[in-house]
Amino acid sequence: MKKSVLDYTLKIRLPLALFVVALTFIITFYASRTERDGIGYEPEQPINFSHKLHAGQMDIDCQYCHTGVEKSRHALVPSVNICMNCHTLAAKDKPEIIKLTEYYETGRPIPWKRVHKVPEYAYFNHSVHVNKGIDCADCHGDVRQMDVVKQAHGWTMTACLDCHRNPHENISGLEKVKNGPTNCAACHR
Ligand code: HEC
Ligand code: HEC
Ligand code: HEC
Ligand code: HEC
Ligand code: HEC
Repeated sequence: MKKSVLDYTLKIRLPLALFVVALTFIITFYASRTERDGIGYEPEQPINFSHKLHAGQMDIDCQYCHTGVEKSRHALVPSVNICMNCHTLAAKDKPEIIKLTEYYETGRPIPWKRVHKVPEYAYFNHSVHVNKGIDCADCHGDVRQMDVVKQAHGWTMTACLDCHRNPHENISGLEKVKNGPTNCAACHR
């Protein structure tokens, strides 16, 4: 091989190839991030329900709709009946409320898309966390400002353990709080 050709390969083509490889890596890294840890996941919902309007502006308590948070493992998403406490009258001529009323009258559950989900093999329980005074916002972000609910934190094992090891850095407004468990059996029962 002539020297000039080798030179060209080493000085131009090799760095260029490395640059492309690095760039591809960076792009895939960020593009797949949401899939990997769920941050920012914001599925479109069957009805245009806004937390910003209901929980923010109207200041309806979270527990009015999410009745399980203090009592059980699951927070629960409200049934249409709870919506109809107001929407038999409120905005009943609006298209989204007509849709809502159809679900109510046909008895079909609204197919809300799940935003947060830890896998079945891991154990999470709302009541133990909420009853210790941990605010919804520490884990879900400021839902009162969200028109569409969006994941504020990832729910990998590392994310759970991060708070269990350093609760003070992750929990707002609590003077005293015990560390969470870090033994495998606590979360893998
Ligand atoms: C008027 C009823 C109502 C009130 C009040 C309400 N929510 Fe919701 N919430 C819903 C409904 C309906 C859904 C499912 C549709 C959606 O995701 O927007 C939901 C979904 C959620 C989700 C996502 C659930 C998932 O699939 O992972 C979170 C988190 C949440 N709410 C937190 C809150 C918090 C925190 C408050 C109080 C600041 C609150 N909600 C107040 C009705 C309500
Ligand atoms: C405590 C009463 C109350 C409850 C409970 C309630 N809403 Fe509402 N909702 C309202 C009021 C008031 C408005 C604003 C109406 C207006 O703008 O005139 C509204 C507005 C809406 C709108 C926007 C309508 C539009 O296009 O202007 C949607 C969609 C909606 N609600 C869905 C729901 C769903 C779904 C639930 C149950 C998970 C629910 N609401 C529970 C009182 C309530
Ligand atoms: C310590 C963190 C943490 C706190 C505090 C917390 N959540 Fe959650 N939330 C989660 C996790 C993790 C999931 C996913 C759970 C699963 O897949 O079983 C979830 C799921 C949900 C869901 C989906 C439905 C369900 O039952 O799983 C709703 C609704 C919800 N949270 C509302 C709330 C509300 C309202 C509060 C405050 C009263 C709250 N959460 C406090 C971490 C938290
Ligand atoms: C605070 C709760 C918690 C503790 C403690 C915990 N885990 Fe997990 N673990 C989780 C959650 C949540 C997931 C699922 C999310 C994920 O894949 O990161 C998980 C996932 C896993 C997985 C599957 C990982 C994967 O990539 O598919 C393994 C294996 C695992 N844990 C082993 C362990 C072992 C071993 C210990 C003890 C040293 C332990 N865990 C302690 C919460 C916990
Ligand atoms: C924002 C902080 C925070 C996050 C995030 C968090 N935890 Fe916890 N968790 C705690 C604290 C604090 C305790 C201990 C409360 C006590 O015993 O005083 C706890 C306790 C627990 C317990 C023990 C419950 C019992 O029955 O005694 C389990 C299991 C658990 N967490 C699982 C999880 C899993 C799984 C995740 C992730 C999906 C998670 N936690 C995320 C703060 C957190």
